[in-house]
Amino acid sequence: MELYRLLQQQGFGSRKECRQLIDYGLVAIDGVDANDWRQPVDAANIRTLTVDGQDWPLLHLPLYLLLHKPAGYETSHKPLHHPSVYRLLPPQMANLDISAVGRLDVDTTGLLLFSSDGQFVHAMTSPKKQVPKLYRVTAKHPLTAELLQRLRDGVLLHDENETLHADSVEQVSEYVLDLSITQGKYHQVKRMVAAAGNRVEQLHRLALGEVRLGELAAGQWRHLTTDELAALGVVTG
Ligand code: URA
Repeated sequence: MELYRLLQQQGFGSRKECRQLIDYGLVAIDGVDANDWRQPVDAANIRTLTVDGQDWPLLHLPLYLLLHKPAGYETSHKPLHHPSVYRLLPPQMANLDISAVGRLDVDTTGLLLFSSDGQFVHAMTSPKKQVPKLYRVTAKHPLTAELLQRLRDGVLLHDENETLHADSVEQVSEYVLDLSITQGKYHQVKRMVAAAGNRVEQLHRLALGEVRLGELAAGQWRHLTTDELAALGVVTG
């Protein structure tokens, strides 16, 4: 592959912009200046691209990422009132057609996946796939056994013609419960808790299928591991 194509593939801009970066002497491969945009390169043997003085580890596409979403970010490429979650990923990735796997509300925190693999995003968000999503809910009022039972049995939400139930409900403390659902309807957890007679004060996603947020700090991201991808049904080679 020619060098400018690699830059393009890695998200450094259009064909013209990538050729210019190289013509202007702004690109190095593993520390060695690269001035010819036609130069053949083998992505498998490159560790770092330096572009305009900044080092970028080579991205291996397609990308599968996990972000610990902080509160105050919109899950949208075109946010209306708050910064976009995409701002929390390296700017180089903004040109790579990455999508979030589903959405979290502005005030919801926790695990959010992203991928440049459109089929994966589609499959993971399809109602057929039924991937369990585990949330930690902090409620406004103390939890009661009746509320937990209502969530298990199913509640009828406004504008829905079927009852929705939690697949698992576990009380953690007086105000906190862990709840798992397989669907991903609009504001589903908040609406279910409201329909059951309480109110969500804080919502945090702990896991999606086998993939857990773990100790990742808020605002940080990481690549999914091969084992996590296998658990989500992605075969890597
Ligand atoms: N359910 C909600 O109500 N909000 C979220 O962000 C996710 C699930």
